[in-house]
Amino acid sequence: MTAEPAQKDLSKTAYDHLWMHFTRMSSYENSPVPTIVKGEGTYVWDDKGRKYLDGLAGLFVVQAGHGREELAEAAAKQAKELAFFPVWSYAHPKAVELAERLANYAPGDLNKVFFSTGGGEAVETAWKLAKQYFKLTGKPTKYKVISRAVAYHGTPQGALSITGLPGLKAPFEPLVPGTHKAPNTNIYRAPSFLTAPDGTVDPEAYGRWAADEIEQAILFEGPETVAAVFVEPVQNAGGCFPPPPGYFQRLREICDRHDVLLVSDEVICAFGRLGTMFGADKFGYQPDMITCAKGMTSGYSPIGATIISDRLAEPFYKGDNTFLHGYTFGGHPVSSAVALANLDIFEREGLNQHVLDNESAFLGTLNKLRDLPIVGDVRGNGYFYGIELVKDKVTKESFNDEEVERVLYGFLSKALFDNGLYCRADDRGDPVIQLAPPLISDQSTFDEIEQILRTSLTDAWAKI
Ligand SMILES: Cc1ncc(COP(=O)(O)O)c(C=O)c1O
Repeated sequence: MTAEPAQKDLSKTAYDHLWMHFTRMSSYENSPVPTIVKGEGTYVWDDKGRKYLDGLAGLFVVQAGHGREELAEAAAKQAKELAFFPVWSYAHPKAVELAERLANYAPGDLNKVFFSTGGGEAVETAWKLAKQYFKLTGKPTKYKVISRAVAYHGTPQGALSITGLPGLKAPFEPLVPGTHKAPNTNIYRAPSFLTAPDGTVDPEAYGRWAADEIEQAILFEGPETVAAVFVEPVQNAGGCFPPPPGYFQRLREICDRHDVLLVSDEVICAFGRLGTMFGADKFGYQPDMITCAKGMTSGYSPIGATIISDRLAEPFYKGDNTFLHGYTFGGHPVSSAVALANLDIFEREGLNQHVLDNESAFLGTLNKLRDLPIVGDVRGNGYFYGIELVKDKVTKESFNDEEVERVLYGFLSKALFDNGLYCRADDRGDPVIQLAPPLISDQSTFDEIEQILRTSLTDAWAKI
């Protein structure tokens, strides 16, 4: 299928006026801005009519795939009926219905839904709620947050403070005080004292250590000052770190021991990315709050949510207490209607089961790339994988700054795109390629991804 080329070349206008996010704008001074004009299924097309496999579902968003007319129709229908009304002291039917549906999907007593417009706001909401909850329940000194190294939790100043990427934070310091970091679960780079002489690591022992490091952080800060731990089910930044076995169960115990809330940041992992509605279901743990966004509408309209336990909500539902927080567009009627229609697709087409049925085939296909000298590790879960690139497979030596700049940015990102794969070459931790295609993907998608990666990574290796 080919798209009609767009009438006007938007590239120059994009450079002149569209300030792209997290983008080195000077890189487009003399080269065109890639401009995507159409999507269908697992593919997108640019303004020149070139077709690309969407290996990242937009930005971990387009779960049901592109070009779903029924989602567009749900948006149009709602806009005609009631385009906007806030959820500030008033309700509208689609926000009510969606809140009930999310509560039904969410594990345990997570029954209260506070809407926002995206993931960063959902994280911001969770932290503010945790702080006010402890003030309302007689523990006003509990306000700090522990999160993990290299984790990304969004760009509002609270969420950015929780983020564990010093480079992203430095330009905006001083940020919100009271955030502290613990190790993540990058078992590929486990500390040497947990690594046997033959290079193997016992995942359970590693998981115990990683969870205990969070407890150490709580103890160092003083449990009477710590409100919450924010963790993703599978950490995105750094390249898809799944939890070792037993990790979340131990973390739950630690949080309970110190009266610290466990916040599962599922902005990426919810809505089928791991083959379950929520990542907490995949790994069998009970959070106190879940933050989610992206896949809830498959991107056909923006929305975010913080899903909160009855226990946490209880003091807010008493007397004149009020959660002093909100967003004009939180729970937007159009986005709520689209989310409901999107979740209908999930049910009707069994998208979660499709991911569960195919995740090992996806991993198996990516694992074929391990024969390449540049591929150090392939890891992830569901339809969410990272491929770590190394200079030396035996020593796991990574690339230096010059090589990252020249090979990862200067060559590989563009080569992948030129070869027809939209995905992400990321170096927020060690250099990784990230893959998270729409959940409708099947073996033909996996094969296409593998082939394009094979060609592009082979060419990249030749440039080291
Ligand atoms: C785990 C996590 N939390 C929060 C965010 C921020 O979401 P948003 O960009 O919608 O504000 C992201 C975005 O990728 C994320 O991956």
